[in-house]
Order: sequence, then C-alpha cells, then structure tokens
Amino acid sequence: MVQLYVGFVLVLIFVGVSFKRKPKIHVPIMISCLVLDLSAVLYLEITRNAVMEAIEHAPEFLMQIHLVFAVTTLVGYGVAATTGTLLLKGKRVRHIHKTNAVIFLLARIGVFITSFWVPVSI
Ligand code: HEM
Repeated sequence: MVQLYVGFVLVLIFVGVSFKRKPKIHVPIMISCLVLDLSAVLYLEITRNAVMEAIEHAPEFLMQIHLVFAVTTLVGYGVAATTGTLLLKGKRVRHIHKTNAVIFLLARIGVFITSFWVPVSI
C-alpha cells in the first residue's frame, strides 16, 4: 500500500528533523528521505503512469490540492539540499533552510493526508 510507504518516509523525516542540531545524523537521514520519496514518484510513474493519471484528474479539487502539495514538496527538497550544502560550507543561509523546512513539512504532511483521496492504489 503506497500510503504506508508515504507515511513511513514522513516518520523518517520527523526523525531526521529531530536531529537538526547534529549534521552527521541529520544530513544522511534527510538525503535518504529525499531518495525514498523520489523513488516512490519514479516507481509510480513507471508502473502506473501516475503523473499523467494525476494530471488527467486535475479538475478534481482534491487532486489539484494533492498536486500542489506534491510539487511544493519536490521544490522543498531542492531548496533543502541546496541550502543544506551551503550550511555545511559555512554559509549563513540557516534562516532560508529553516523557513523552507516549515513549508516543506506542511506540504509533505499534506501529501500524506491527500494521498488517501488520490485514485492511485498499489
Ligand atoms: C527536506 C529536508 C530537510 C529538512 C526539512 C531540514 C530541516 C532542518 C532544520 C529545521 C534545521 C534547523 C535549522 C535551525 O533551527 O536553525 C536544519 C539544520 C541543518 N540542516 Fe537540514 N533539513 C533538510 C535537509 C537537509 C540536507 C539535504 C542537508 C545537507 C545537504 C541539510 C543540512 C543541514 C545543516 C548543515 C544544518 C545545521 C545543523 C547545525 O549545525 O546546527 N539539511 N535542517
């Protein structure tokens, strides 16, 4: 069940964020979450053509909300990886990384909740 997987990664994300002050633990966990989430998108795309299926159902209100959460999550991963790498290099981008984290977490929780209404089941 894809929702179980999406929920498991969400729990892992919270574990990773709880180690936000310990980069040696925080960074590998967050990168693992990124890889796991991207793998899910790739898997759904390959096996069920999920993205096209989602777009075809876009007029449905919940599907549109799901897509907004999903795209925000993917952009959030990109911003987190970029600003996280800069933080490791000693750049002063902590406020951007932190603000992005809040938006990312809300969007990722949104993905989990709305995934129950999306007509893609494995
Ligand atoms: C979506 C994924 C991520 C989330 C939600 C996230 C979230 C956070 C949060 C909330 C903090 C604490 C910021 C503060 O309170 O000032 C933090 C710190 C940090 N994050 Fe991330 N992060 C993510 C991914 C990454 C990645 C991919 C990297 C590295 C490539 C990274 C590197 C760091 C570093 C170096 C710190 C500072 C740790 C310290 O020395 O205190 N993060 N992150």
